[in-house]
Amino acid sequence: MTRHLITSAIPYINGIKHLGNLVGSQLPADLYARYLRARGHEVLFLCATDEHGTPAELAAAKAGKPVEDYCAEMHEVQARIADGFGLSFDHFGRSSSIQNQRLTQHFAGALYNEGLIEEVEQRQIYSETDGRFLPDRYVEGTCPNCGFEDARGDQCDNCTKQLDPEDLINPRSTVSGATDLEMRATKHLFLKQSKMKDRLDDWINSKTDWPVLTTSIAKKWLHDGDGLQDRGITRDLSWGVPVKRGDEDWPGMEGKVFYVWFDAPIEYIACAQEWVDAGKGSDWERWWRTDKGADDVRYTQFMGKDNVPFHTLSFPATIMGSNEPWKLVDYIKSFNYLTYDGGQFSTSRGRGVFMDQALEILPADTWRWWLLSHAPETSDAEFTWENFQASVNKDLADVLGNFISRITKFCRSKFSEAVPEAGEYGPAEHALIADLSERVSRYQAAMEAMEVRKSAAELRAIWAAGNEYLQAEAPWTTFKTDPDKAAAQVRLALNLIPFYAVLSAPFIPDAAASMLSCVRVDQPIWPDDVPAALAQLAPGHAFDVPEVLFAKITDEQREEWAEKFAGVRT
Ligand code: MF3
Ligand code: ZN
Repeated sequence: MTRHLITSAIPYINGIKHLGNLVGSQLPADLYARYLRARGHEVLFLCATDEHGTPAELAAAKAGKPVEDYCAEMHEVQARIADGFGLSFDHFGRSSSIQNQRLTQHFAGALYNEGLIEEVEQRQIYSETDGRFLPDRYVEGTCPNCGFEDARGDQCDNCTKQLDPEDLINPRSTVSGATDLEMRATKHLFLKQSKMKDRLDDWINSKTDWPVLTTSIAKKWLHDGDGLQDRGITRDLSWGVPVKRGDEDWPGMEGKVFYVWFDAPIEYIACAQEWVDAGKGSDWERWWRTDKGADDVRYTQFMGKDNVPFHTLSFPATIMGSNEPWKLVDYIKSFNYLTYDGGQFSTSRGRGVFMDQALEILPADTWRWWLLSHAPETSDAEFTWENFQASVNKDLADVLGNFISRITKFCRSKFSEAVPEAGEYGPAEHALIADLSERVSRYQAAMEAMEVRKSAAELRAIWAAGNEYLQAEAPWTTFKTDPDKAAAQVRLALNLIPFYAVLSAPFIPDAAASMLSCVRVDQPIWPDDVPAALAQLAPGHAFDVPEVLFAKITDEQREEWAEKFAGVRT
């Protein structure tokens, strides 16, 4: 059994994510992690909050809170919501952790020692009152182009002109309102990615099995325009990882922090340390250090397409450049975008469904099923309430839910609340078992290839096969003339419940757990042997008729929600 390290792109700390964010990273990563665990693999599934950078500072200021407090609170909020969606992280860490701070400083030191970091002199706005250099968007003033008085240092929101902070008339600091600003010389660190271009190019070219979406984005950045650029990895902010090389201070870098995109991916590694330090694991190095056993690990990353350049080029440049034996990613699964009802999800305009709202109106499994079965894999996908209602009602309520309720109720009324003993399987039963064996192989192949939509389609077909069998064999009719034969039909159909539960658990874990508890199975086993799995409920095995597994979405609900989540349209 291979060991699998799985990471999902770590969500920004500011604000609650929408369903488009969820389906592009955390949710498919969870699907894969759950599947591999069910197949008996050892899995380490990590995610965290991405806490540094200007947006976090600004959001904290807006909330009127110290940034540390804001981040701690938002981390709890995101952790709770992730839990509500059944995201089965082994650890949900924080990029602001001490582990990540140390490791980020360590990497900077290693890159420096390899001659891959350059100190670049720049001129930048300094605020005497604030005692710091100000990033462009921390300076506001009057736009030289249109006279708008609140233009930002990087751009005027009124006339959209791109600006440099020194273009502004009467510039002031947004931190304090101070106007005693001046241009001063300062230094920033640049990672010489251009020196690593050939290595990165060879590495990407060796990944012939990667999705085209992933490799095409990487190649574009490597070859288009001037090719791979050196990258500024420091910023003038107070919130972030202080710039050091290892434990040593970095002369000239006082008061600066690393750029958020430098420290964020390093959190994938630091998160494994946090996992150990939280007492959940014992050896993080065997997952991350190739000199400590990580050569046996298969490492898969999940992310939206906007994150691909950072994972195919920047983070590998950090790892390779360090010249230390860190594990590189083996496979990058990337996603297109989910759109919302004819437009974009919009955080600022409150358009679309956000993770907390989703859980308030429907169970997590409903969302998981729709999102995964419509994952934006080969192209963007669109969420519409009509499609959502139709898919959920059909797949979950009419096909899966109805099957379970029908067969358990029928058995209770004609036999008892236990698996009937009489009767032998005939050709129809053997045909169903053979058909399901083939379908399970196809489902497994799709899951292993991380073909999310295809996996959902195979699973749906497995559910439908049971329904069709029941429809065709109609034990309620058989019962009138041949009760023993009806008993055999019911026995097989009841055995489909734990079988469906185990196969469906990666998609709909809560419903799967209810299904298992209704047939009183504690230790579900993966159907490696389908005929054996379909005999696991022996004659006499007691069950309970479950409550409604999936309620249907009504037209009234659909209309109400469509209205409620429309946001402010432009
Ligand atoms: N926070 C980023 C986003 O939501 C993703 C960071 S992924 C990591 O787009 F690699 F930086 F960790
Ligand atoms: Zn302007």
